[in-house]
Amino acid sequence: PPTVPLRVLICDEMNPGDLSHPGFEIDYEGNLPREETLRRLPGYDALITRSRTRVDRELLAAAGERLRVIGRGGVGVDNIDLEACSRRGILVLNAPESNNVSAAELAVMHLMAAARGLTRSDRLTRAGEWDRKFLGVELKDRTLGIVGLGRIGSIVADRAQGLRLRVVAFDPYVPENKFERLGVERAATLDELLTAVDFLTVHTPLTDETRGMIGARELALLKPGAIVVNAARGGIVEEGALVEALTSGHLFGAGVDVFVEEPPAPDHPFLHAPNLGITAHLGANTREAQERVGAEIVERVLAALHGDVSRGA
Ligand code: MLT
Repeated sequence: PPTVPLRVLICDEMNPGDLSHPGFEIDYEGNLPREETLRRLPGYDALITRSRTRVDRELLAAAGERLRVIGRGGVGVDNIDLEACSRRGILVLNAPESNNVSAAELAVMHLMAAARGLTRSDRLTRAGEWDRKFLGVELKDRTLGIVGLGRIGSIVADRAQGLRLRVVAFDPYVPENKFERLGVERAATLDELLTAVDFLTVHTPLTDETRGMIGARELALLKPGAIVVNAARGGIVEEGALVEALTSGHLFGAGVDVFVEEPPAPDHPFLHAPNLGITAHLGANTREAQERVGAEIVERVLAALHGDVSRGA
C-alpha cells in the first residue's frame, strides 16, 4: 500500500462494509448535501456516488486536480458527465452486476401490482372504501415485451417465464444465440414488439437513443389494456405521454420507479394518474444488493487508485 493514505469520499447512501483498508482513508457520508460534497472534494483522490449525485462540470471543477477516480455504486452512469471526466483524465467505474436481481424483481413487482390494482385498492381501503368491483388481469399465457435484453432484462425474462408469461424482446445489440438461450422471442423492430405484447417493461440505459423512446406514438401501438413498467430511468417512457395513455384508459395500468427529475415536484402528474404504482427509485434498494454494490465499488475504486485500471466501466 502507498505510504500517504489515498482518500475516498462516499457521498451517497449505500452499505460500504468495513472501511478499514490499509493505505486508504475512506469517509462514508450517506447523504451528503451537494454544497458539502463540493466543499470537501478537493481533499480526495476518489469519489463514490449513487444516482443521487450529479457528477457534472461544476462538481469536477470544485474537485480540482487531485480527483482521479469516480465510482458509481450501481449500473447506470447517466448522472455522470463521462466526457468531462475523460477530458480531465478521471476514470469512471461502476458496479454493473451487483443490483441486477433486485432491479429485475422490482420490475416484476410493478407488473403484478398494476395487473391487480394494488395501489388503487390500498388507497381506497385506507380511505374507508371497500371496493371489490375492480377486476385485474392474469399474467399467465399473456405476452411480456422487454426492451433491452441486457443483464437486468434477462433476469426479468427468466422470472416472467416462471409466471408462465411468453416473453418477446427488442434489443438490436444482443446476439441471436442469447435470445435462444433465454427462450425469448426476438422482435426485429420496436414497433413489432409494441404491437405484439400485452405488457411492456424497459431495461435500457438512458442515452440520447433511449430518451423518449416510448412516447405517445409508441404507447398507442400497444394493445388497449396494456401495462407499462419503467424501473430503468425516468424519461425512457415519456412522462406526459404515459399519463395521457392512463387517463384516456388506453392503458390498464403502469408502474414507475424512476422520474426525469428526482425527487419529483409535489404536483407531478404521475401522482394523480389512474392505476399508476410509484416507488422512489428503489430498484437497487435491497439489503443484499446494497451490500454487494458497496463491496464491489469500494474494491474497484481502491484497485484503480493502486493503478489497476484494467477493469474500467
Ligand atoms: C443503478 O443504476 O444501478 C441504480 O440507479 C442504482 C441506484 O439506486 O443508485
